[in-house]
Amino acid sequence: MHDPARPAPWSVGTQSPSKPELYRELAAELDGLLADEPDFIANAANAAGAVFHALPDLNWAGFYFLHGAELVLGPFQGRPACTRIPIGKGVCGTAAAERRSVLVPDVEAFPGHIACDVASRSELVVPLFAGELLLGVLDLDSPVVGRFDAHDQAGCETLARVIERAFAMSLRAGGEATPDGIASLRSQ
Ligand code: SME
Repeated sequence: MHDPARPAPWSVGTQSPSKPELYRELAAELDGLLADEPDFIANAANAAGAVFHALPDLNWAGFYFLHGAELVLGPFQGRPACTRIPIGKGVCGTAAAERRSVLVPDVEAFPGHIACDVASRSELVVPLFAGELLLGVLDLDSPVVGRFDAHDQAGCETLARVIERAFAMSLRAGGEATPDGIASLRSQ
């Protein structure tokens, strides 16, 4: 678990590590933050918060999860966003359909980009898997054109592997995303 007494990347603003260093450090911190917690939503929420506050120049960071033929909004940091994205639509739906990261230096040059926040000017979406199974995507938006490069893509793919491990643990542990109250209402 993350030791609150230790400085974490999302609380440190004094140094400017290189991108590979920043992502290495963030991956290690995320691993510590998520590894002991079996609840899926708790881990997705903390991962979104950690990424949003660790990486500079973001206006949105969060998850969309696969439900049937759509991606449905999950935990995030930023302005309220579109709740459902069909597979194949927008940057998120493209990453999900093609099962690969999609880096968009200028959203205005990406046909079909879905503008949830008009401030967003560039975007990076990384798919998340449990084995072969697509779970959803990690989506990062920036108000800066050209904010994301190949280092960000590689770094975020490393973060995705850490997040996938935590999600796999939650799913194996039966880390129920449904609060007890809702579960008991359903069984009535
Ligand atoms: N721009 C995304 C939609 C999600 S928001 O950016 C949070 C897209 O085109 O899929």
